Amino acid sequence: MTDAKPYSQACENNKQVILEKITTVFSESGTILEIGTGTGQHAVHFARHLPHLRWQPSDHPSNAQLCMPWLEDADLPNINTPLPLDVSSPDWQLPSTNGVFSANTAHIMSWPEVEAMFRGVAAILDAGEAFCLYGPFNYGGHFTSPSNQQFDASLRRQNPVMGIRDMSDIMLLGKATKLAMENDFDMPANNRLLVWRKLPS
Ligand SMILES: C[S@@+](CC[C@H](N)C(=O)[O-])C[C@H]1O[C@@H](n2cnc3c(N)ncnc32)[C@H](O)[C@@H]1O
Repeated sequence: MTDAKPYSQACENNKQVILEKITTVFSESGTILEIGTGTGQHAVHFARHLPHLRWQPSDHPSNAQLCMPWLEDADLPNINTPLPLDVSSPDWQLPSTNGVFSANTAHIMSWPEVEAMFRGVAAILDAGEAFCLYGPFNYGGHFTSPSNQQFDASLRRQNPVMGIRDMSDIMLLGKATKLAMENDFDMPANNRLLVWRKLPS
């Protein structure tokens, strides 16, 4: 199945640089839950190059089937069927997970949804397991580039609940959910890859 695959140029641009970082973070075998999978381009690239992992795509129920054309085309043995997951749902009811990845979701979700994502991620991870969150973030209330400022304005025009999040708020969420920040990688195009590890409870 190759027709009508959803396509994101941004995913094509960033998938290799993200892979190079998460290769070291998700070095042990296990299942990685992806939140907000979108087109499936990341899922396919990461599963193909990280065969020691089982990749579990998921997305909001309204979007969870979007990635199917990419998954079917790739036909990889280590990608699971995508799961419908709204991070706001109180009980995620997921199979066992050893790590979580999410890209470009924190500025699309409302702030209460971002809070719910952190609560849910912290609840499903065991001590030492990692959460990687990729996307644009602000520092001290400042945009890191004019293009991010324009992007933020366009998001807020579309829907005022969306917008680029500030690192100070994101770090507070990590602290509140017993996720210890391990890395804040500078990525191309004014993006970051944030890595947390679950602390022992
Ligand atoms: C900009 S897209 C990013 C897609 C992909 N990760 C990427 O980097 O191209 C944002 C994604 O967040 C998902 N999303 C938004 N709200 C959500 C929620 N409450 N629970 C789960 N996913 C959500 C959307 O369905 C969408 O797939």
